[in-house]
Amino acid sequence: MTISDDRTPPEHVAIIMDGNGRWANARGLPRTVGHRKGVEAVREAVRVAGDVGIRYLTLFAFSSENWRRPATEINDLFGLLRMFIRRDLAELHAENVKVRVIGDRNNLRDDILPLLIEAEETTRDNTGLTLVIAFNYGARDEIARAAVTLAREVAEGRLPPEALTVEAIGERLDTAGIPDPDVIIRTSGEERLSNFLLWQAAYSELVFVPEYWPDFSREVFLGALDRFAARERRFGGLAGRPPVAVRS
Ligand code: IPE
Ligand code: IPE
Ligand code: MG
Repeated sequence: MTISDDRTPPEHVAIIMDGNGRWANARGLPRTVGHRKGVEAVREAVRVAGDVGIRYLTLFAFSSENWRRPATEINDLFGLLRMFIRRDLAELHAENVKVRVIGDRNNLRDDILPLLIEAEETTRDNTGLTLVIAFNYGARDEIARAAVTLAREVAEGRLPPEALTVEAIGERLDTAGIPDPDVIIRTSGEERLSNFLLWQAAYSELVFVPEYWPDFSREVFLGALDRFAARERRFGGLAGRPPVAVRS
C-alpha cells in the first residue's frame, strides 16, 4: 500500500539529504559526482511531492556547519545550487511551485544571494507546492538570530518582555508562516538531526532510510511516507482522541 492510495499526505515534509559523498565513494568516484547525482534526486523529490499533494517540501541543502568542508567542495555545492536555480527556476515556476529560502543570508556570496532572491520573487504568487530550500541554514543560528531580533524589539520598547511567547519566537524564525514539519526524513542511515529545524521538529515524526541521497527514488520517498502514515501522533495527548484545549 502506498500513500498514492487515498491517504491524506503530510502537509510538510522536510528532508536531510545525506550521503552524496558515500554514494560516490562506493563507486570509486569523486564526491562531486555524488553531489551532481544528488541534484537529480532533488528534481525527482519535488515531482513526487507535487504528485502526492504535499504542500511544503523543505530540503536541507547546505548547513551552517558545512563551512568546515574543504573550499573545493563548498565551491562545488554552491555551483550546483546556482546551476539548479538557473536551469530549473523556469520549470518550477511553470509548475506553480513557490520557492522559499531559509538560512542566514548575511555575508552570502554575491553570486548566490541575488539568485536566491530572484527565485523567491519570481515564484512568490504561486499557489502550488512550497519548496523551502535550507541553505547556509543551522537551527541554533536561526534561533540565535531570532533572539537578536526580539532583544532589539524589547530594547527599543516595541515589545514587552512578557510578549516573548512561543508564537512570538516562531514568527521571528526563518520559517515564519510555514507549518512545522509533520515528518523529517533523513537518508544514508545516519540517525541525527545535525542542527536541522530543532525548534520546528518538536513533534515531527522522524524517518531514517538507508539509501544514500542520489538513490532517493520515487519508491523510496513513497516508502518513507508509508512509514510516516503508520505512526500515531499524540502531541502529548492520548491515543485515538483529539487533543483537548492546551493550558497556557
Ligand atoms: C549530503 O551529502 C550533501 C550535503 C551535506 C551538502 P554529504 O556530502 O554529507 O555526503 P556524505 O554524508 O559525506 O556521504
Ligand atoms: C546534514 O548533513 C546537512 C545537509 C544535509 C545539508 P551532514 O553530512 O553535514 O551532517 P553530519 O556532519 O553527518 O552530521
Ligand atoms: Mg553527510
